[in-house]
Amino acid sequence: MEIKEYLKAQRQIVEQALQQYMLAAEGDFAAHLETMRYSLFVGGKRVRPIFCLAAAHCVSDAPEPAVDELLLPAACALECIHTYSLIHDDLPAMDNDDLRRGQPTCHKKFGEAEAILAGDGLLTYAFELISSEKFPGPAPAVRLRLIAVLAQAAGPLGMVGGQYLDITSEEKKIPFELLKTIHRSKTGALITAAVQMGAIGGGADAGQLQALTEYGKAVGLAFQITDDLLDATATTEQLGKTAGSDMWLGKATYPAFFGVEKTRSLALEAADQAVAALECFDQRAEPLRALARYIVSRMN
Ligand code: IPE
Ligand code: IPE
Ligand code: MG
Ligand code: MG
Ligand code: MG
Repeated sequence: MEIKEYLKAQRQIVEQALQQYMLAAEGDFAAHLETMRYSLFVGGKRVRPIFCLAAAHCVSDAPEPAVDELLLPAACALECIHTYSLIHDDLPAMDNDDLRRGQPTCHKKFGEAEAILAGDGLLTYAFELISSEKFPGPAPAVRLRLIAVLAQAAGPLGMVGGQYLDITSEEKKIPFELLKTIHRSKTGALITAAVQMGAIGGGADAGQLQALTEYGKAVGLAFQITDDLLDATATTEQLGKTAGSDMWLGKATYPAFFGVEKTRSLALEAADQAVAALECFDQRAEPLRALARYIVSRMN
């Protein structure tokens, strides 16, 4: 299957699950829930849930629909946490962006306090989705491992810590090692967790989990390098978010360090590393291989 068709089909599965598992905007908290739903459903590529399911399919012998049913709440939890990170990333105190997923940012639409709370709501609800027996999921011991992986990746030693380093490195000359740490944590950690959660949920053995973790780290780095590259080279219309903002904010990015051409080759190199990590897998890893190539060739 072509990657475009694969992504379309997988997105549809994720979209349907998000509709099923996200809280409806009704009752006493309808207005608050609407702010969360706005940012969640306004668009997005859904790559983290897709990575999660693809990793599970790569190791599980069960039919794909059965694997999906068990893991979709966890996959949706990843998308909730990612969307919260975008809402907070766009706040005036952070990257101060007006446009996200082709529409006004959450705080532009609803106000700053409302947007902070929308992020808080999505973060917390993610852990309800993955832990509550109201929702399908793997056996309790496996669920616990998924929760631990997600919490660690989203937290102070992962995405949040990376965002802190990103913000406090603005307008500074930082060493390359720190730039790499920023990218690996602010973006790489959650993508790695997505792959690991799929692997664990799909029943990976220790060797498979290690290989998929290597893949996740490489693909996560490639993803943020490409995000930097697109910020420097694509248009606002293509991206659905403000192009060129990294330069204005004095962000520590790969293009700022290396220029556009070298950045492009470093992104490809990271994607090659991701593919190389999958050596021990057969054709069931084809979607993961194709995803690695897609994320460095994407246009948004
Ligand atoms: C953008 O993520 C922010 C990063 C962590 C690089 P995506 O490029 O996955 O954004 P959506 O979900 O498609 O909007
Ligand atoms: C964001 O990195 C990483 C997150 C954890 C949200 P960016 O600040 O580069 O993401 P965009 O470019 O605004 O989507
Ligand atoms: Mg940012
Ligand atoms: Mg930003
Ligand atoms: Mg960016």
